[in-house]
Amino acid sequence: MIIGVFDSGVGGLSVANAVQKALPGSKVILREDKANLPYGNKTPEQLFQLVVPILKEMVTAGCQIIVVACNTVTTTIIGKLRQAITVPLIGMEPMVKPAAELSKTGVIAVFATPTTLASTRYTELKQKYAAGKTVVEPDCSNWSYMIEHSEVDESQIKHNVDIALAANADVIVLGCTHYHWIEELIKNFTAGKATVLQPEQPVIAQLQKIMGTTAL
Ligand code: DGL
Repeated sequence: MIIGVFDSGVGGLSVANAVQKALPGSKVILREDKANLPYGNKTPEQLFQLVVPILKEMVTAGCQIIVVACNTVTTTIIGKLRQAITVPLIGMEPMVKPAAELSKTGVIAVFATPTTLASTRYTELKQKYAAGKTVVEPDCSNWSYMIEHSEVDESQIKHNVDIALAANADVIVLGCTHYHWIEELIKNFTAGKATVLQPEQPVIAQLQKIMGTTAL
């Protein structure tokens, strides 16, 4: 099976590596849009214009399924993309539901881009699964840029982890695939006081399910 993985930048590489490791028999085609990143402060309309031609090219290149390894794109335009693209799309969005279920303090933190945090889908996720919980959203607006350019300012990462812990959050959701690259750093700063969640394993499970039930 040929699996496409798409993101604005290195978040996609993190997901592509995980998919390739879990499904060694599949071919993984990674596409990025580094010319236009960061996506995290773009409007849904801008994202749609940028993403549709790239996904169409990926289908032409043989991708039989595409992982949209971008929370920003998934939470804003995945429905419209599914109408425009002929192969199945697997989205990645902040793991609000598992985080809310896991939390004992009733406080979770979500680290994500401004566009994701402003999206209707993310608001719906909070209303549906985290009603009655407190959701802390520290400002991560320059993180994808920092990570993309290998200029990670650890004090900024620690600052946001400290905000989450001070609010009594016991689960931190990585709601942007770029942040997967600093997962260990974030875990170190939590000093065991919070669980860190990111969606690579659920996405792989979904891929395995689709591969097991289709003739692709
Ligand atoms: N990696 C993307 C996400 O998961 C967006 C990063 C960016 O380009 O701002 O949201």
